[in-house]
Amino acid sequence: MLLEQPGQLGALRLKNRVVMAPMGTNYSTTDGLSTARDKLYYAERARGGVAMIMTEAMVVTAQARPHHNSLCCYHDRFIPGLASIVDAIHAHDCYVFAQLNHRGALLRRSVLNMEPVGPSPWQNPNTGDAVRPLSVPELIEIQKLFVASARRLEQAGYDGVEIHAGNGYLFQQFFTPRINRRTDRYGGSFDNRARLLLETIERIKQALPDFPLVIRLSASEFVDGGYTEAEIVELAQRLERAGVAALDLSGGSNESPQLSKYCIQPPSFPRGCLGPYAKPVKQAVGIPVFVAGRVVDPADAEALLHDGCTDFVSVGRALYADPHWCLKAFGQVKSPIRKCIACNVCFERLTLEQDVACVHNDYG
Ligand SMILES: Cc1cc2nc3c(=O)[nH]c(=O)nc-3n(C[C@H](O)[C@H](O)[C@H](O)COP(=O)(O)O)c2cc1C
Repeated sequence: MLLEQPGQLGALRLKNRVVMAPMGTNYSTTDGLSTARDKLYYAERARGGVAMIMTEAMVVTAQARPHHNSLCCYHDRFIPGLASIVDAIHAHDCYVFAQLNHRGALLRRSVLNMEPVGPSPWQNPNTGDAVRPLSVPELIEIQKLFVASARRLEQAGYDGVEIHAGNGYLFQQFFTPRINRRTDRYGGSFDNRARLLLETIERIKQALPDFPLVIRLSASEFVDGGYTEAEIVELAQRLERAGVAALDLSGGSNESPQLSKYCIQPPSFPRGCLGPYAKPVKQAVGIPVFVAGRVVDPADAEALLHDGCTDFVSVGRALYADPHWCLKAFGQVKSPIRKCIACNVCFERLTLEQDVACVHNDYG
């Protein structure tokens, strides 16, 4: 099986090709601190044989909280709790990266009164809230907040960091001409729309040159007026030149139910459906690529690798449903995989500000 073969991510040798996708849990305290539950949850997925875990999106500022009980990274007080998550995962011969995110225009007043902010005036389509354009000094401040959080991750013992630049959040809002209407150096041309992300990467690389950095992108926006395939390929090549270690590909945007389908695919979508969108990116870069999206059965993952769409397969909901998916896929545990049915109760619960749970998995 290709899935069982070790693979290289920069200097890290991953024991197989399965990476756990970043998925919010709402298992933290309301102060954003790690709990016994999140450690048990991640440790069980590490024990289940994945080569690497990308922990859920964490915010870089108290002004951008996504959920009431999401993990946070915006202050040094979070470091000990994050270090205990890292230790729980490392105990099972598994690497761990953390995802950092800023939701920008998709912040919600209903969650801790967060103010939606973005490149230019807009309305959060989910809530109808007005979006306040960010000033250039605020953009510089956000870049510095990403650096400070990445530094905390390194101190906590993470093996690397992922910046979320997909699924319709702040960096994608700047990159897409659909939403970014700025006329300054952060809007308009390709270079200007990519600037916020590239400057943030440059600052992180300057501060932490040896800390592996992965970028998550939506390979396609799946909507008229969004960025083109040529643009995402060009962006991927720029990211490689900027020293990024790998690209983690998703799709769509969580700004509306129509586009969110491409981030968290419903049962009607074919398995491995983002493979064809990942392939042109993979062919254009030399760094490893991950792709997520409706990988339910090990055969789905194998097909993505076999077809040359990706180097690693990012598995999300299937690991909520069965933490031991990998051990079962590789025949090391001889019982059938409890398969994700993409009912999206997990995501629904997150949206309703409840702790994530799976209809197939009573054990957590
Ligand atoms: C409950 C839930 C929470 C998620 N949270 C995140 C997140 O924090 N960051 C992110 O980039 N993607 C997030 N995703 C998307 C997943 O990483 C993944 O791309 C998506 O679920 C498709 O992969 P799958 O079919 O294997 O689940 C989330 C998905 C679900 C279901």
